[in-house]
Amino acid sequence: MGDTSISRRTLLTGCCATPVFARTGAAAADEESAQFELPQTGDQLVEVGHEAEAKPLTPQDLGLQDLLLAWAYDPRNKIVRNGSRLNMLLLMRFEPATLGDAERQLAPEGIVAYSAVCTHQQCWVTDWLKSAQVLQCPCHQSQYDLRHSAKVVGGPAPRSLPALPLNVNNGILDIAGPFTGRVGGEQQQGT
Ligand code: FES
Repeated sequence: MGDTSISRRTLLTGCCATPVFARTGAAAADEESAQFELPQTGDQLVEVGHEAEAKPLTPQDLGLQDLLLAWAYDPRNKIVRNGSRLNMLLLMRFEPATLGDAERQLAPEGIVAYSAVCTHQQCWVTDWLKSAQVLQCPCHQSQYDLRHSAKVVGGPAPRSLPALPLNVNNGILDIAGPFTGRVGGEQQQGT
């Protein structure tokens, strides 16, 4: 198996906010606002490109070293939090024994979740280099070690990708707490 990158089409179909045509007034404003919120504790996850189905992800949706891009999903109000490109998440599954001690606490069944936004200039980090076992940013080739807090192991990124702790509740992945750090880059993309 070679390296993996998420297709541009998959990314484009996923971003960003779904237009709010069906609601008006305060309800529509609330919904739109909720789409922009960062992932919240108790949110579930839906795969990018499959927002309309809003099918919550389960551990069985990820094979070993499958890279999957996702949005947080508020199941109570049925809102996908895809209003901002900075909300995109990446999930990957590893053998739990290969994770660092800290990561294992956040990663049920070896499934880690991080912000997909590069800490350099905010590109989406989408390329899994299987041979090197690192996640690489397509813009300027920063590399992150997802088994160990997504620490930077190459390129210009100044800091790790923030991690998002997960749970499994009733067989469904959900978010157990806030990001471990600030989401976003040191510089805006293209600036
Ligand atoms: S934006 Fe990722 S390395 Fe520059």
